[in-house]
Amino acid sequence: MRKEKSMILQETYTLNNGVSIPKLALGTWLIDDGDAAQAVRSAVDVGYRHIDTAQAYNNERGIGEGARSCGVPREELFLVSKVAAEHKTYAQAAAGIDQSLQTMGLDYLDMMIIHSPQPWTEVNLSDDRHFKGNVEAYRALEDALSQGKLRAIGLSNFRIEDVRNILDNCEVKPAVNQIKAHVGSVPFEVAAFCQSNGIRIEAYSPIAHGEAERINGIDYMAAKYGVTIAQLCIRYVLQLGMIALPKTTNPLRMKENASVDFCISPADMDQLNAAASLPDYGENSFFPVFGGTL
Ligand SMILES: NC(=O)c1ccc[n+]([C@@H]2O[C@H](COP(=O)([O-])OP(=O)(O)OC[C@H]3O[C@@H](n4cnc5c(N)ncnc54)[C@H](OP(=O)(O)O)[C@@H]3O)[C@@H](O)[C@H]2O)c1
Repeated sequence: MRKEKSMILQETYTLNNGVSIPKLALGTWLIDDGDAAQAVRSAVDVGYRHIDTAQAYNNERGIGEGARSCGVPREELFLVSKVAAEHKTYAQAAAGIDQSLQTMGLDYLDMMIIHSPQPWTEVNLSDDRHFKGNVEAYRALEDALSQGKLRAIGLSNFRIEDVRNILDNCEVKPAVNQIKAHVGSVPFEVAAFCQSNGIRIEAYSPIAHGEAERINGIDYMAAKYGVTIAQLCIRYVLQLGMIALPKTTNPLRMKENASVDFCISPADMDQLNAAASLPDYGENSFFPVFGGTL
C-alpha cells in the first residue's frame, strides 16, 4: 500500500545559491549516538528528508549510519551539520569539516553552518564577537563548498553584527542563519535583516524545547484549529517563511509534527507575532485578547 506523505514533507525552499532545502527537518540535539541511526530511519520512513545535527551533539556517527541505511538514495536526503563553536581558526574548522564527513561516513554534506559566533563558554558572558575567527571558520566552509564537500554553507546564532561581518569580509553569501525562534520568542530584527539579505532563517527549538504548552493561551489557539500545540508551533514558524527543526525520537510525534497542512489566519498570526515579540516566554500572560476565550 502506498504511504501518503503530508504535503509539508514534500515542500522546499530554494536557498540563495539555487539549492533546494526541505522546509521541515528532524532536529537531533540530545539524541544519543546509539539511538540516532534508528531516529533517522524512523523519520525517513515517515517522509522526512532533512536531518539537522552538529559536531557538538556527539551523534554524527549514528546520524550518518541512519542516512546510509535508511533505504532512500543519498541525493534525496538533506543532511546538515555544524562547525563546533570553539573552532575559530581556518585549520580547526577545515579539519573539523573533514572529520564530520569521516565520522558520518559520507562523501559530502548538504550544508554545514558555524554553530555559534562565540565559543559556548563565552555566550552571554563576553563581548568578544570573534569577528576574525568567524571569518576564518567561514573561509574553511567556503573552501569545502568549492571542493564539493558541501552544497551550501551558513551560520547559526549570529546576531546582525555577526552576519554583517561575514557579508563584509567573505565571498559566499551565507545560505541560512539558524536561530532560536518559536511562538514564545522570535528575534524579529535578526530575521528581517537576514531575510532582506537573502539569508533563509532556520527556526530551532520551534516547540520551545518542548515547553510551548506553558505559554498562556496557546492551548486555546491550538484547539481553535483542531491541532496540537506542537503542530501550531511548527506551522507558525513555517508561515514566517522559516525552516522548522522539531526534535523527537518518537515516530508518532514525527508524524504529528509533519501533519501541519493547515493555515493560521492573518489575524491569529498577528496575535502570535505580538506574543513572540515580548521579551521572554513562560508562564507570563501572553495572548491577552484570548485570555481563555475561544
Ligand atoms: N543551532 C543551535 O544552536 C541549536 C540550538 C538548539 C536546537 N537546535 C536544533 O533544533 C532542534 C530542535 O530544538 P530543540 O531540540 O531544542 O527543541 P524542540 O524541537 O522545540 O523541542 C524538543 C522537545 O519537544 C518534545 N516534542 C517533540 N515533538 C513533540 C510533540 N509533538 N508533542 C509534545 N512534545 C514534543 C521532544 O520530546 P521527545 O524527544 O521525547 O519526543 C523534546 O523534548 C534541535 O534538535 C537541533 O537540531 C539548534
